Amino acid sequence: MKERLEELRDEALAKVKAAEDVKSLQEVRVAYLGKKGPITEVLRGMGKLSAEERPVIGQMANDVRDAIKVEVDAKEVLLEQAAIEQQLAEESIDVTLPGRPVSSGSRHPLTIVVEEVEDAFLGLGFSVAEGPEVEVDYYNFEALNLPKDHPARDMQDSFYFTDELLLRTHTSPVQARTMEKHEGKGPVKVICPGKVFRRDDDDATHSHQFMQIEGLYVDEHVRMSDLKGVLEQFAKAFFGEDREIRLRPSFFPFTEPSVEVDVSCGMCAGKGCRICKQSGWIEVLGAGMVHPRVLEMSGFDSTKYSGFAFGMGAERLAMLKYDIDDIRHFYTNDVRFLAQFKRA
Ligand code: PHE
Repeated sequence: MKERLEELRDEALAKVKAAEDVKSLQEVRVAYLGKKGPITEVLRGMGKLSAEERPVIGQMANDVRDAIKVEVDAKEVLLEQAAIEQQLAEESIDVTLPGRPVSSGSRHPLTIVVEEVEDAFLGLGFSVAEGPEVEVDYYNFEALNLPKDHPARDMQDSFYFTDELLLRTHTSPVQARTMEKHEGKGPVKVICPGKVFRRDDDDATHSHQFMQIEGLYVDEHVRMSDLKGVLEQFAKAFFGEDREIRLRPSFFPFTEPSVEVDVSCGMCAGKGCRICKQSGWIEVLGAGMVHPRVLEMSGFDSTKYSGFAFGMGAERLAMLKYDIDDIRHFYTNDVRFLAQFKRA
């Protein structure tokens, strides 16, 4: 029995030594120290021993068990430590690595322009109004003094859904809608930005969809000089303090008189260059005094009230301000174009 116990001890200690992880060590512990292990078995067979042998073998069995337990415990601490160290090594973060760049988006240049125009006019007491993009014939044409036979109603120029329903061709219907809401009482002082649609073939300067910003001011005693003053203020706020404007006679069915408004060329300060085609001036918008018939149709007494209106293309403003050569850049969403409008 003595030999058997020594054999078991050597065998167990060898296995403890060989154990490479906590799990196989646990197997050794159960195998040699568990209730069904060989040492327990030896102790169970002690009944057959003589009275002198019994305490000696009993003592020895306990010593062997203690010796194995000490080694298993010690090895367990080592293995657990090793496991923690391995985990730490695997999960370590190299804080010296450069971070991954976070790329932020940017506002669309047309959004920037519309907001700038809005800001300029909000500062002059205007508020922002909106209207539907799918418009009825009445507001898009009729209420703006564009009678049934007007060429602008041509199927070639407008996107019609039905005889009565179309994609608005300008933001001017918002004028009529806004005046109607005021029920004949001034002042009306709004600007209306929005998408408009025309049956144009797309090229560098034409787009079947673009953005207009309409302005309308109706009150008692509104004069042409008010229009000029407001637009001059705007031109200086938007393009720069050194800019001038000039008005040229023009025609729109909904304004009388009507004007085309130019701003002095920022490239050559009015001297004449490639950008302004040597004229020193760049056309930026259409405007005029609201036609008395338009006032009347929207419920305003044209003997008491007068007003001015203007409309400009947001793309054109943006192209002039940022020197963009093709209107299609606004709609093709090339990030190389859009990223240039990131705020510094
Ligand atoms: N609606 C006109 C256009 O689309 C622009 C305009 C608006 C002109 C208001 C005069 C007054 O061309």
